[in-house]
Amino acid sequence: MIDNRTGVEHTLPIVDGAIRATDLGKLGLLSYDPAYLNTGSCRSAITEIDGDAGILRYRGYPIEQVAESATFLETAYLLFEGELPTAAQLKAWEDDVRIHTYVHQNVKKFLEGFRYDAHPMGMLLGAMGALSTFYPDAKEIGDRDGRYLQRVRLIAKIPTIAAFIFRHSRGLPYVLPRNDLSYVGNFVNMTFEIGGSLQPNPVLQQALEVLLILHADHEQNCSTSAVRSVGSSHVDPFSAVSAGIAALYGPLHGGANEAVLKMLDEVGSIENVPAFIESVKAGRGRLMGFGHRVYKSYDPRAKLIKRVADEVFEQTGLNPKLKIALELERIALEDEYFVSRKLYPNVDFYSGLIYQAMGYPTNYFTVLFALGRLPGWIAQWEEMLNDPEQKISRPRQIYVGSPLREFVPMSAR
Ligand SMILES: CC(C)(COP(=O)(O)OP(=O)(O)OC[C@H]1O[C@@H](n2cnc3c(N)ncnc32)[C@H](O)[C@@H]1OP(=O)(O)O)[C@@H](O)C(=O)NCCC(=O)NCCS
Repeated sequence: MIDNRTGVEHTLPIVDGAIRATDLGKLGLLSYDPAYLNTGSCRSAITEIDGDAGILRYRGYPIEQVAESATFLETAYLLFEGELPTAAQLKAWEDDVRIHTYVHQNVKKFLEGFRYDAHPMGMLLGAMGALSTFYPDAKEIGDRDGRYLQRVRLIAKIPTIAAFIFRHSRGLPYVLPRNDLSYVGNFVNMTFEIGGSLQPNPVLQQALEVLLILHADHEQNCSTSAVRSVGSSHVDPFSAVSAGIAALYGPLHGGANEAVLKMLDEVGSIENVPAFIESVKAGRGRLMGFGHRVYKSYDPRAKLIKRVADEVFEQTGLNPKLKIALELERIALEDEYFVSRKLYPNVDFYSGLIYQAMGYPTNYFTVLFALGRLPGWIAQWEEMLNDPEQKISRPRQIYVGSPLREFVPMSAR
């Protein structure tokens, strides 16, 4: 590298296609990268994405194969442990989760304090932060067994809390966990059961299982980076995960599936699609559920979700909004604006339509995303803690404010 200010030539080691920003520091240079467009913040062995090729792998296994053959808890095990479990290991993990599904009665009281119309993500965020006060031992983040216990608690309790939130919004009594059901079966029962009348639909439950698997991890996205960054202060995992939930809440991240449904409502009918596309191209709003920071081809999860959508709509009947979505996709994939910017449907484009067909209200979609993403957040948090290169996360800045000036007393202003 030649420093054009001085003409001095420097050699910077390149390892794994990267230079170290701290090596630039030795030359008196700061690397400037707002929004981390080209900055690797860690070395990670959990999830591999090739955005140009549309590849997503968990611990080396293609997402298509994991979604086809694994359960959500099996996927979580894979993300945590790095290997697929044996039958005995999976059973032990499922049993551990099963015996931790209940939450302290005061969590119920805490949730009851929210207004009837509180946004489910605000409730989830608050409840997750509050959980840290129920488990003071979670502060012992250096203890491997302790971390395992918190991992189990997090995975076991989030469906219970999420279901209580669902019931709260509807004014329905909370349904307690049933440990004879599968992870997803129990969650569906806690959300929809009324008077013993719920007839579980295996196709819809399998669809939910696949959706959770597709969301389980996605390397250094906004919410995962938030969990890592907040966790780097060595706070307990419940607090770190609540930071991830806060990040996921935003419409540019997990809130996008909710935004897609709002957009489809706004478009209203197929005839309005061309005018809507023109308004997006003119810079008046975005085509929600399109585009991705990393994928510059079809998001592999979106491909799988489209297949799940077909299976679900066969059971529930066709949603008229699906027709609008298909037409938006058809036009956008042919349009120069979207093609030249490599904007393709992402995971959120169809997931909202499926959640709606399953009976979940729009403002609840991101909670389902959080349920799916939790294993990824925890796996990444633990990887960060075990990485000797990591320290407290603390970016630098380029100061562009006023230079030194004298304070002006109030009487002189
Ligand atoms: C996901 C997203 C935040 C990635 O953003 P990013 O990597 O920062 O990309 P940029 O905002 O720099 O976009 C690059 C270009 O594509 C355009 N673009 C990106 N996403 C777009 C969309 N959904 N609709 C219309 N135009 C879009 C931008 O306007 C920009 O155009 P320009 O170069 O003419 O200014 C962005 O694509 C987006 O807002 N998508 C909609 C929300 C969404 O679905 N989020 C879920 C992600 S899983």
